[in-house]
Amino acid sequence: MGLALAHAAVERGWATTLLLGPTHLLPPEGSTHLTVHRFQTTAELERVLREAWPEHDVLIMAAAVADFRPAHPQTDVKIKRGNEALTLQLEPTPDLVAELATQTRPDQLVIGFALEAADQLHDAARAKMKRKKLDAIVANPLETMDSEHVEATLLCADGSSERTKTATSKIEFAAWLLERVAALRRPHHSA
Ligand code: CTP
Repeated sequence: MGLALAHAAVERGWATTLLLGPTHLLPPEGSTHLTVHRFQTTAELERVLREAWPEHDVLIMAAAVADFRPAHPQTDVKIKRGNEALTLQLEPTPDLVAELATQTRPDQLVIGFALEAADQLHDAARAKMKRKKLDAIVANPLETMDSEHVEATLLCADGSSERTKTATSKIEFAAWLLERVAALRRPHHSA
């Protein structure tokens, strides 16, 4: 999704920064509009987000950030097989987009994503938008997980909402979303 959004942003001629986590997929090449930062961990994403955010107008936080991480990561050792049960202690990750709100200016827009059970999709996504102080949130039903198609609703903080047509590809969805993001930004420009 992040790659599709970066592609659509570059197509619109927007100077774009793509923060790309571990994936075999490659970012688009050869565009002067696109800067790519790779990251592996939530801590790296947190650092690069904080650094990059002040120079940007819009953040679209499509990242599926892990909710927990090992409290004592040992990346440089191989754990040998034993007969004892192995207990991993996990700690919660920081809520990156919520924490970024403290650093966000009124002229900046923050859009989040939410994957929720279909029967409580809109209520849960709206609650999440409020809790994380987002300007808008893309509500996706759980069924779209791992699907090539998106059937989502964009919920905005002003109470408005708009749904995609059924079975939209990720590429089509990205262009659809950026069109709406551009409209959300217009009041700032005319103010
Ligand atoms: N998000 C984030 N930092 C996290 C977890 C999520 O910035 N540690 C962002 C995601 O990128 C997304 C939004 O918050 O834009 C909602 O993510 P989601 O996983 O649905 O929400 P959680 O806060 O993890 O809530 P829950 O798992 O309880 O649904």
